[in-house]
Order: sequence, then C-alpha cells, then structure tokens
Amino acid sequence: MFRWSENYKTGIDTIDEQHKKLVDIGAKLEDMLYAGDSLDYYDYILETINELKDYADYHFSYEERKMRESDYPGLEEHRMEHLYFVKRIDKLAMQDIDSQQIGVISEALDFLARWLFSHILNSDMKYVDHLKGNAGK
Ligand SMILES: [Fe+2]
Repeated sequence: MFRWSENYKTGIDTIDEQHKKLVDIGAKLEDMLYAGDSLDYYDYILETINELKDYADYHFSYEERKMRESDYPGLEEHRMEHLYFVKRIDKLAMQDIDSQQIGVISEALDFLARWLFSHILNSDMKYVDHLKGNAGK
C-alpha cells in the first residue's frame, strides 16, 4: 500500500506536509491501478502525472532553498537526486500513455514508491541531522 507513515516524518512540518502531498498524488495512481475496471483513464493519468511533476518541482525548490540557507554541504548531491526524479517522470510522461495505461500507472507508482521513501529516509534525514548539528552549536 502506498501510504504515509510516521516513519517518514522529518520533524520539519512544511517538508512533512509536502511529502504527504506527494504520497497523496501517488495514492491516486494506486487507486486507478486497483480500480479494476476498464474505464479510460487517459485524461486522469495525464493530469495526475502533471500534478506530480509540478508539485515535485515546487517541493524540491523549497527543500533546496532551505538547504542553501543553512549552508548544507550535501546540497549538490541532494540536488542530483531531485534531478534524477524529474528526468524519470519527464520520460514517463513522454511515453505513449494511451495505448498502455496500466503499464504507465504501475511504472509511475513503482518508481515513486521506491524513490520517494528511500529518498526521505536516507537523503532528507541527512539534512535533518545537519540542522540538528547546527542547532547544537
Ligand atoms: Fe529531498
């Protein structure tokens, strides 16, 4: 199940809210995948993928701005991970969505689930550690 869990909490409220929103968008994809009907989801898939792109863009910019403000030394490396995500979703959106709707939805969901949760747990948490270290000085 593609759902938010307390384990993913960074403790930075704005970032946690933004992560939850990304999870909500992913949950829409999951709902489509498990609806099990033969409806045509083309418009909705396109809309959801675009929403994912736009929101990820907004969220990544926010995180990177915060990292810059706190002189986070891992910023460049972190930015590369965000960039990888953006490229991957762009590539997905360029596929022939109409003829392979289920394939596109499951690929998007699979990628999002693997990328987002491991990015939060590893990379975003490193930034949180950096902030905690600064606060202790
Ligand atoms: Fe991040």
